[in-house]
Amino acid sequence: MTKRTPIIAGNWKMHNTLAESAALITALTKAGNKNHVEIIVAPSYTSLAKVAELAKGSEIQVAAQDVHWEDKGAFTSAVSPVQAKDAGATHTLIGHSERRSVFGDTDEILNKKVAAALRHGLTVIFCVGETLEEREAGKTLSVIESQLKNGLKDFTEEQLKGLIIAYEPVWAIGTGKTATPDQAQEVHAAIRAYLAKAYSPAFAEATRILYGGSVKDSNVDEIMAKEDVDGALVGGQSLIAEKFARIINFN
Ligand code: 13P
Repeated sequence: MTKRTPIIAGNWKMHNTLAESAALITALTKAGNKNHVEIIVAPSYTSLAKVAELAKGSEIQVAAQDVHWEDKGAFTSAVSPVQAKDAGATHTLIGHSERRSVFGDTDEILNKKVAAALRHGLTVIFCVGETLEEREAGKTLSVIESQLKNGLKDFTEEQLKGLIIAYEPVWAIGTGKTATPDQAQEVHAAIRAYLAKAYSPAFAEATRILYGGSVKDSNVDEIMAKEDVDGALVGGQSLIAEKFARIINFN
């Protein structure tokens, strides 16, 4: 069990109409929070303002799923950090594996997106993770180190204060295959060791590292029991109020 304040975050991805989002957030505000965790939900942009409005006064914070690297301009379909913040987001995911693999976000693009988010005071949840092929080739730790090094390039420890990292093995996302608690712990410990080396031991100790990839009400307890696992980033089960409530209130 972590000594840091745990975070349970839900990534709603491209799901939910406005009415569905409203119903979900309303149910979640009544979910309780016995572990005093930080609770974050990341709705799609169309629901962001509504969810933020309905979450007001509750313990739930709202994140964007991504932001563009510019504040405004001719970038059809993109959403800027200014707009995300204006809609009520306090956090943003950056570098989710679906952004990397489906939309082609490179380390260089992600680095610019992190800069934009930090410039506007959004707390970044920076996502990293290896593919199955990379894992089987024994490259997991080097891939993750390189994603961190390049994605967070040129920022000082001071600028990155409050950063949240999400380790999401690509092979575990939406597949029902969860990393074992030991596999998660191994990578989380390696990420923390990297942060200690690249920044400082104090920064590494303070940074929350979340696990994501088929987290369920049935496996959250054993994952959260690991020392370096500071929380979960949940996809599928964050769309079902009772399941996500159980995850928030893990044992
Ligand atoms: P699943 O929980 O559906 O595997 O998704 C994980 C994820 O990608 C969260 O960002």
